Amino acid sequence: MKKQLDNISFEDILVDSDWCFKNARSVEQWTHGYHRYPAKFLPNLVKKLIEEYTKEDDLIADLFAGCGTTLVEAKIHGRKSIGVDINPVAELITKAKINPISPDKLEEWYNLIISSFDEFKIEDYRDSNVHERIDYWFTSENKAKIAFLYSKILAVRDGTIKDFLLVSLSHILKNCSRWLQSSTKPQIDPNKKISDPFAAFRLHTKQMLKKNTEFYSQLSKDRHLRTKCEIKLEDARRTSIKPNSVSAIITSPPYVTSYEYADIHQLTAYWYEYIKDLAKFRKNFIGTFYSLNQELGCDSVLASDIVNTLSSKDKRTAKEVANYFKDMNEVGNEMHRILKKDGYACLVIGNTTIKDVKIKSAEVFAEILNSLDFKIVKTIKRSIPNKLIPTIRDQNTGRFSKLESNNSKLVYPEEYILIAKKV
Ligand SMILES: C[S@@+](CC[C@H](N)C(=O)[O-])C[C@H]1O[C@@H](n2cnc3c(N)ncnc32)[C@H](O)[C@@H]1O
Repeated sequence: MKKQLDNISFEDILVDSDWCFKNARSVEQWTHGYHRYPAKFLPNLVKKLIEEYTKEDDLIADLFAGCGTTLVEAKIHGRKSIGVDINPVAELITKAKINPISPDKLEEWYNLIISSFDEFKIEDYRDSNVHERIDYWFTSENKAKIAFLYSKILAVRDGTIKDFLLVSLSHILKNCSRWLQSSTKPQIDPNKKISDPFAAFRLHTKQMLKKNTEFYSQLSKDRHLRTKCEIKLEDARRTSIKPNSVSAIITSPPYVTSYEYADIHQLTAYWYEYIKDLAKFRKNFIGTFYSLNQELGCDSVLASDIVNTLSSKDKRTAKEVANYFKDMNEVGNEMHRILKKDGYACLVIGNTTIKDVKIKSAEVFAEILNSLDFKIVKTIKRSIPNKLIPTIRDQNTGRFSKLESNNSKLVYPEEYILIAKKV
């Protein structure tokens, strides 16, 4: 049954400077900087949520784990954690970030791989048969070097070390391709100064080694090395997490029709053979522009109003937003199923404007949670440092863009943290 929230006007809430972290360290601690990831959490925000809403040994879940920020912070704080993401690239990155390796052992493998570069002969790898899209993105020399590196990494038998090295290679793929470096959209830069895979791998892996050592040492010191921490390749709408088992959920759902994670991670997905068909892969992502056409099935009056207003302007976008709200309703149900009684759901979510219609995702979420017998105990408003999330949306395509143009509009200068309790 649809339920409308009384007196919800999030616009009137004042920005809470305690949650803005204006002076946050620019260098990321622990394993956070292993791999770029669009719209990833600010670790300080997760840290504060963990400290305020959980205690040691609690089980924390993140249903949109992305590159695993919640899980890394949970582990360092001695909380058990479980993460879910639909994206195999997210699963790989998170696996590497939550499993620190004995630094000496890792250094040995790093040296072995680096010394193998002397064996490389381009003619042995030039015809490597990967995927036609790989030929589109890479020069033949870089393709051969990456194929060589990939084969060396695949030969590593220790799964944790292999994941670590695969993450390093995955991170440098963009730098070594023709992909416009500053863009999350698949776009060729004809003038790009393309990195050499061996040099880029050496440099990035070195940085990762340092981070691994820092994380490993701290966890050993605090006796948290064995704290349970797990990532699953699953859909947030129907996970295998046990009912009533989770003390707190700390998560940030995807934004509506903005980032196409399937497109963004296609270089890794093709190289590592996670996908063959990009179009099919895209459909499982929530918030995608390419979602299946469904009707609105969401317990929020506000959601219906937004979709109806948008429908009079652009039917296709209205359907995408309707799909998004319907998916979010299913996620709300799943959160309710896995949380213990009195457990907290902490959701970080931003509003936006598409075709001049305000898409009040945070308020819709609040309505959904209320209709599912959650009690909203706190709503925090924070401003977002724009280096973490683009603040411009193209009014014609609805997508995020970096450059300001006549069509662009400011989005997400602020976001909300909803704290809801399962009652
Ligand atoms: C805003 S990002 C989360 C970033 C994360 N907080 C971090 O720090 O890296 C949203 C994530 O939702 C994931 N996602 C999209 N649809 C999903 C689905 N149906 N089930 C699970 N995860 C999904 C995307 O792959 C993406 O990693």
